[in-house]
Formats: sequence, structure tokens, C-alpha cells
Amino acid sequence: MAARFASSGMTAFLHTYERHCASLAQQGLLRQLPSSSHHWLADFSSNDYLSLSQHPQVVDAAAQALSRYGVGATGSRLLSGNLDLYEAFEARIAADKHAESALVLSSGYQTNATVLAALINAKVLGAEPLVFCDRLNHASLHHAFKVADVKQIRFRHGSLAHLSELLNKHADSTQPKFIVAESVFGMDGDCIDVPGLVELARQHDAFVYLDEAHATGVLGEHGYGLTANPGSHVDMAMGTFSKGLGGSGAYIACSRAVRDYLVTACTGFIYSTALSPVVIAAMHKAWELLPTMDAERTYLTAMSNDLSQRLQAMGFDTGTSSTHIIPIILGDEQRTLAARDKLQAAGINVSAVRPPTVPPNTARLRMALCTHHTPAHIDALVAALKSV
Ligand SMILES: Cc1ncc(COP(=O)(O)O)c(C=O)c1O
Repeated sequence: MAARFASSGMTAFLHTYERHCASLAQQGLLRQLPSSSHHWLADFSSNDYLSLSQHPQVVDAAAQALSRYGVGATGSRLLSGNLDLYEAFEARIAADKHAESALVLSSGYQTNATVLAALINAKVLGAEPLVFCDRLNHASLHHAFKVADVKQIRFRHGSLAHLSELLNKHADSTQPKFIVAESVFGMDGDCIDVPGLVELARQHDAFVYLDEAHATGVLGEHGYGLTANPGSHVDMAMGTFSKGLGGSGAYIACSRAVRDYLVTACTGFIYSTALSPVVIAAMHKAWELLPTMDAERTYLTAMSNDLSQRLQAMGFDTGTSSTHIIPIILGDEQRTLAARDKLQAAGINVSAVRPPTVPPNTARLRMALCTHHTPAHIDALVAALKSV
């Protein structure tokens, strides 16, 4: 059926997509789905940092919700989907993030693309906002700027000195100011100085939006992200359940007034079916487990530090990583793909990350360490890397 549809010839321009893909393949930039049936000796491509996707209590919470509520939320939160499970989870998130309120959405991408777009809406603000962004922000944040038709003012990656310079340049402007960054950067594994950023924002009366996708579960007070730490509270902390919590969905923590505005103005919240009760129950349980997982976080940190040191001793460029996300920056796309293929042939799965996900000439292997990795897995990775 699919072949008949594709070759129906009704769309004369269909071949342009094929040509585009062929050109990307030539440059080593084509993305393709990996085989779903492979069993690796060690897999460093997953973001299940705390291995919570398999945790018996999380799985059990999902099973119980399944039998009580069924599989789906049956509607948007504004219609039939506002289950009691949501309210309880949001109250817990708000308390742990030291925020007035929280709101749960269906994915991290959707949250960044639509919550941020609603916040920087020039019509609502009464003026075009000035939005200061880290150069390496995630694609979902860029999506928001396109939707809102707002131009970004970009500061050098992680550089508060450059951010300060740019804020000073606009010090006399009465336009609303926003600062948008990640607390842990997903492709580099480095952290932004959150207290420094907050201090700078207060000096310039700027609203801080911080993406904690890769910090949630792993870093900060009780694993609740860097913005849960004293002196690090921001105007809006966003985080995902899709990485450290092992499931899917996302949250924002913010003031009550901002949450009320988003409930009535955020398209990704209004026009999308609420997350399944199965996912909410599982993620609530995973969230509750975080304060009990200090030993797992200590293990992850020690393993990450050890791997970083070994890679650097081998002469690899691991950039500015200081967390469980460790890149090996190779630069060239084809070289990166060849290295990934070699590792896979040895049974080790790592991600090959290429532009435009990362800047030109910084193609890399990305390794994400998880608590289910053992010293033997790390040794196998290091041994396989010797052939790269
Ligand atoms: C920094 C960052 N923000 C947001 C997202 C999107 O999250 P989700 O996978 O829940 O859509 C990702 C995932 O790749 C990410 O790395």
C-alpha cells in the first residue's frame, strides 16, 4: 500500500525530498533510524540516567494507574483530561522546586516550543521583548523564537561575561528582557553558573527561563535540578521526565500568575491531549524516588569523572563536560560516523551527533552514562575507543 501511495505520481515535486536526502547523505548529515532489534554489549546512547524506566516501583505505579484509569486521558486538560493525578503531581513538583506552582505538559519539546513562545508574545507584553540566549540552546527553544517571530540576542556558550556585556548594551531599553539557557547542556555536558545568571538577571530586571532537561533527577538539591538549589531560583524552570525520570512528559515551575496565563494562552497546553494517566502516575513515583537516590547520583558522578579522565589521557577532546554527558569532539562528520560504526561493530552503542544539532565542525560522539552501567561497561568502551 505504502509503495502505491508513494509512487502515485500525483505530487510532481516528490523527488525533491529524495534529492535533498541524497545530498545530506553525501555530506554525512543524513539521519536514519537505528535498528530496533540490536542487543549491545553496552549502550551509551540512552538518557535513562537513573535507570528509572525499569524501576519496579515506577513500573508498579504505571500498572496500578492503568487498571484504575485506563490508557488515555481522553482529552485536553481544559476538557476531560484534568485528572486528580495531575493536580497532586503538580503540587509536589512546585513544593520541591520551591515555586508557587507547576504545570505538566506532554513533552519537553512541546513545552519549550509553546510555553516560551507564549511568554515572549509581543502583543501580550506590549512591546517586542529582548531575548538573550545561550548559543547552544536546544532546538525546541529555537522553535519558540520562530513561532513568536522574535530575534535572539545570542551570548557565547556559558559566558556570563558576554551575557553581561550584551545586557549592559541594552541597559537603557524599556523592552521586557528574557534570558534563556539550559542548566546542563545536552550535547556538551557542561553546566551554566545558575546563581551567577540569577544575579545578573536581577540587576537587569530580566526574566530567566532555564531548561533543566538533563539536570532533572541527576543534579541539584535531592536531584530536583540546579534551580532547586538555594540562591538559584529562577522565574521559570522547565524540566523533562524523558531523561533522568525514564519516562516522558515535562514540567514547568513558576509563579501562580504565570501558570494561570499559560493555561489560557499556551497552545501546546490547550490544543493537545493530556498525558496518559499511566505516564503521570509513573513519573510521579519516579519524582518521589529522587530524594532517596543520592547513592546512585554519587556513583554516576564518580563513574563520569573517571571516564572523562581516561578519555582525556587517551588524547580525546571531551570539551567542557563536567557531568554524566561526555562528548568526544572529532569535528568531521564522516570521521564521526566512521568512529560510531567501529564502536558499534565492537558491540558498543554511542550517538554520532552532527550539525545542525551541534555547530559546524564540532561533530562528536556523545556518551550518556547511566546508573546501570558497570565498570566493565566503561572498560569495554575505553577498549573499543582505542581503535578509533
Ligand atoms: C535540552 C533539552 N530540552 C528539551 C528536550 C526535549 O525533551 P523531550 O524529549 O521530552 O521532548 C530535550 C531532548 O532532547 C533536550 O535535550
